[in-house]
Amino acid sequence: MTLREQIEAAVAALRPRLDMQPAVGVVLGTGLGSLADRIENAIRIPYEQIPHFPTSTVDTHAGELLVGSLAGKAVVALSGRFHAYEGYTLQQVTFPIRVARALGIHTLIVSNAAGGLNPQFRSGDLMLITDHINFMGDNPLIGPNDDSLGPRFPDMSEPYTRDLQDLAETIALEEGIKLVRGVYLACPGPCLETRAEYRFMRTIGADAVGMSTVPEVIVAVHAGLKVLGFSAITDECFPDALAPVDIQRIIATANAVEPRLSRIVQRCIERL
Ligand code: HPA
Repeated sequence: MTLREQIEAAVAALRPRLDMQPAVGVVLGTGLGSLADRIENAIRIPYEQIPHFPTSTVDTHAGELLVGSLAGKAVVALSGRFHAYEGYTLQQVTFPIRVARALGIHTLIVSNAAGGLNPQFRSGDLMLITDHINFMGDNPLIGPNDDSLGPRFPDMSEPYTRDLQDLAETIALEEGIKLVRGVYLACPGPCLETRAEYRFMRTIGADAVGMSTVPEVIVAVHAGLKVLGFSAITDECFPDALAPVDIQRIIATANAVEPRLSRIVQRCIERL
């Protein structure tokens, strides 16, 4: 079965259950899932019920697709994402983005929990993603290209839409929310990184590091979507002052950032 046929099968299963066509997609990262509860009249569809969707193995990720209204717009939220470290191919990891696109979205908003590399950042900061570095050693577009889904060689000069970055910064100012800016680097995981790796990542221009998002953004750009991205800075990855990572604390910090992220995302969606 081709990728296109898989997308069509998923959409055919979803459409009859939905009462609206989503315009905006939202990917909710680790500890950042509460935005899903703010979606009104949400139809919730567990990933297991969607043809060709992989199923999530991480218990911090619920694994359901929600369609409903947020800030007056029809949205589809992907609550629970798939990671390369779970053993999925990047084609599987990005399949939900393909499906959201086929359902009708024009804009994708992505979020994640990330380690801060920029020494000016503090855990609990919210970062607007301005660009990324794909350090996964893989790419979801490897393989035959279906020209009906996107171009063979997608341009990556502006993966995070400039106008949406400006909108997010304007809203952050209006709301009095501190928003730092930076480059997100994606590693395959599942190990956290060594001091030497953090030092290297900082040297090559990264401000934050995590294990997700970049594959989804590559596919979103391939599919012609506008993209807006945020990282919750959940820990400080400073090579010369590194403390052992505590996953529970990362999740707690992401939970603490979530209300600010939700506020900005909702106000952005309102003005799209
Ligand atoms: N690396 C380091 N710190 C992190 C990560 C990561 O991938 N994700 C969240 N905090």
